[in-house]
Amino acid sequence: MQEETIDVKNILGLQLPTDPRWVDLTAISIEAILTDHAYCEQKAATTCISLIQRYSEYEKMITELAPIVTEEWGHFRSVLTELHKRGLKLGRQRKDLYVNELMAFQKKGGHVDDRFLDELLTMALIEARSCERFKRLSEGLNDSYFRKFYRKFMESEAGHYTLFITLAEHYLPKPKVRKRWKEWLEFEKELMNKMEIRGDRIH
Ligand SMILES: [Fe+2]
Ligand SMILES: [Fe+2]
Repeated sequence: MQEETIDVKNILGLQLPTDPRWVDLTAISIEAILTDHAYCEQKAATTCISLIQRYSEYEKMITELAPIVTEEWGHFRSVLTELHKRGLKLGRQRKDLYVNELMAFQKKGGHVDDRFLDELLTMALIEARSCERFKRLSEGLNDSYFRKFYRKFMESEAGHYTLFITLAEHYLPKPKVRKRWKEWLEFEKELMNKMEIRGDRIH
């Protein structure tokens, strides 16, 4: 029997949907949410560059991630354009509690394969949660312009989520990837549960 790629059909596989109140909260300050969004895109681009720098022996990964860097940076530029169009400014980067907690869950020692796997799965998870959040915005906002705006990001991040999982399964045994992914999903559920709902944050 052909082994299925995990959770690709269910776009997200996430264990906890975003609190519906969050969508309304984001509408309070467009400048704040767009600023946070811009830095999420910047961090996605930066992390892909960092993976390329540190794992140069993984040729397939480099080939696949090189265009993602361009895409994420394009996202950053779109968000920046959106801010400027409205006479708003890119604010300061905030402390990213969500990402920091995920990083703390990554294996730091042990075999390089385990660390590599965790780095790929962290990216998959951030992409998945971002995708889910963009989906909420694209469906729940009153402003039809912004509904369309976020829909584009949602589609793009869905592709990234699956790419990181596919890369993990390319380099590592599928059962190992699957087992660890479940642990990540569980951890993320707990994290989402304890995090404050803030309208000035994508996560
Ligand atoms: Fe992006
Ligand atoms: Fe992405």
